[in-house]
Amino acid sequence: MKKKLEAALNKQLNAELGSAYLYFSIEAYFISVNLNGFANWMHIQAQEEMQHAMKFFDFLNDRNAAVSLPAIPAPKSTWKSPLEAFQDAYKHEQKISKMINDLMDLATKENDHASRTFLQWFVEEQVEEEATALGIVEQIKLAGGSSGALFILDRELGQRTLGPAE
Ligand code: FEO
Repeated sequence: MKKKLEAALNKQLNAELGSAYLYFSIEAYFISVNLNGFANWMHIQAQEEMQHAMKFFDFLNDRNAAVSLPAIPAPKSTWKSPLEAFQDAYKHEQKISKMINDLMDLATKENDHASRTFLQWFVEEQVEEEATALGIVEQIKLAGGSSGALFILDRELGQRTLGPAE
């Protein structure tokens, strides 16, 4: 594998771990404001991000490329409201989508077909990731600060479970 692509895949491995870190941080915020269903949703999300990171880890190893594990940046740790926290999650997923698209561009430029096939899963996953986060942003907006509506949403988000790694 070309060194430039190897470095970019390692950067994405780090970014996926960074996503898990951010979502664990948001989970802790939700626990601190007694929204345990919201916290559960973020806990599952963080675990999914670790699965994403493992995909990059395994792929790099399968391709006999070097794995590098630099520091994971500390995430933000306080939010003003559940809406602000989910807006941050949505913005974060948009940033990750751009990184995946840039990676796909690089794999295409480098003519690395195996990387392109590997990355295709992430291209599709990011559509899901953005849609889900935006959907919850919209539901929080609809709740409009009503504690009853927020309570119902909290119960719904508390139902989320971790599916098997794809
Ligand atoms: Fe790994 Fe939420 O994208």
